[in-house]
Amino acid sequence: METERIKITVAIDGFSSSGKSTMARRLASAVGYRYIDSGAMYRAVALFGLDNGFVSSDGDVNADALVDALPRISIDFVPQPDGSQHTTINGVDVESQIRQLRVSNVVSLVAAIPAVRHRLVAMQQAFGVEKGIVMDGRDIGTTVFPDAELKIYVDASAETRAQRRFKELVEKGSAVTYEEVLANVVHRDHIDQTREESPLRKASDAISLDNSSMTLDEQDRWLIDQFERVVQSLEKA
Ligand code: DC
Repeated sequence: METERIKITVAIDGFSSSGKSTMARRLASAVGYRYIDSGAMYRAVALFGLDNGFVSSDGDVNADALVDALPRISIDFVPQPDGSQHTTINGVDVESQIRQLRVSNVVSLVAAIPAVRHRLVAMQQAFGVEKGIVMDGRDIGTTVFPDAELKIYVDASAETRAQRRFKELVEKGSAVTYEEVLANVVHRDHIDQTREESPLRKASDAISLDNSSMTLDEQDRWLIDQFERVVQSLEKA
């Protein structure tokens, strides 16, 4: 019988559209870990805010009303037959809605509200109590799991990231221009880096990766190598 391997926590942080979700998802599936997209949780709260009048599409946020309503929503991830997972709010599948530009345009404002962050960070920590988890976001290695055994900080130029997001949106049928997507990426980078509560920054013990010119396979191999190095060193200890 195979001996059970030591389980670790993997934190992958980086800018929007840096490819971190793809990396995180593929690593989780390769090593049999649970994958949690923390950005999807902020997107779900932003969608809930838009649909219930707490957030307007031009960015006015009634933070108090939104925060008061948070106990009414439960966010979860439901595995799909193709191996992906869909985000749900109170059991309703909102996966495609949370990826739309209307949500992307306001999500950074919602993610900058301290009480929203506290609530979502607590939910994220609860997902990770048993380890065996790969979570991606902005503050996973710094705030959510400061003791994660493997922390990666992914970087890539704003243009490379906007190109990726633009391609994804066009493939999904959105009528957006590259310039709109680039403007959204630059704007979100700015808010994510300058907000007071848990801004995006590299944890001092995170490993940096600039994947601008890497193929998916190269990225997968690089990440599995990092994972194996950490797990094997813990297993030897
Ligand atoms: O990764 P993403 O683009 O889906 O993230 C959506 C938004 O949520 C983005 O503006 C940053 C924010 N976010 C955050 O503040 N903290 C996280 N751990 C994950 C995402």
